[in-house]
Amino acid sequence: MRRKIVAGNWKMNTNYEEASRLAESLRSAAADGVQVIVCPPFLWLSLVKNKLENTNIETGAQNCSDHVKGAFTGEVSAEMLASAGIGYVILGHSERRSMFGETDQLVLQKSLQALQAGLQVILCVGETLEERQAGKLHEVIAHQTLHVLKNTPESYANSIILAYEPVWAIGTGLTATPEQAQEAHAFIRTLIAEAYGKETSETMPILYGGSCNATNAKTLFSCNDIDGGLIGGASLKAEDFNAIIHSF
Ligand code: PGA
Repeated sequence: MRRKIVAGNWKMNTNYEEASRLAESLRSAAADGVQVIVCPPFLWLSLVKNKLENTNIETGAQNCSDHVKGAFTGEVSAEMLASAGIGYVILGHSERRSMFGETDQLVLQKSLQALQAGLQVILCVGETLEERQAGKLHEVIAHQTLHVLKNTPESYANSIILAYEPVWAIGTGLTATPEQAQEAHAFIRTLIAEAYGKETSETMPILYGGSCNATNAKTLFSCNDIDGGLIGGASLKAEDFNAIIHSF
């Protein structure tokens, strides 16, 4: 049995008031058998964590440094997150790759920092529309996934969650069809098997992200290789996020 997970990526949204209110309204969002993770901006992590105290909802960051500590103005280390009780970090998100120039090598370095600090990594992979149309879906996903997995000791495999996020579906209202998503997820599972063997590939969760909402979550989550979702826009509305959590 694989873990079922719904993670909310707030991106650079919410001010102090809004973050407090949203976290407060998520307290009742937990559902049996589903790991819920909320990833607010760095500044609100402790606030949100406190608001969610005594629920089984976890908090995660949206990024971390590839360095341990030192003169890196403006950066936040994995160890800082871990010491504040944050359990997860999203890495390799396409917005970080495209807007902040994050390469597969940088994503790997960040991921190793996070894993060594005891965090669980939500590793995002996905193709652009041009790459899909050029028939490069498998090549792109394979490179993004294997560069991290093959350079990460297998002892960390239990702390890695994959997220398939087709770039063309993120924030666009275009969702991958369940068939497209399932096909990509099944392929990612073969990549996990290539890196760590079949047994691990059957236990590592793979989340779908990209305009996943309260309406389409049920069909997506019912696909064999889809173990939950990484939710952007719809995670900012407690009612929608709650409905997605209850879509299993
Ligand atoms: P979206 O974002 O749900 O708003 O498309 C998903 C993501 O970027 O993780």
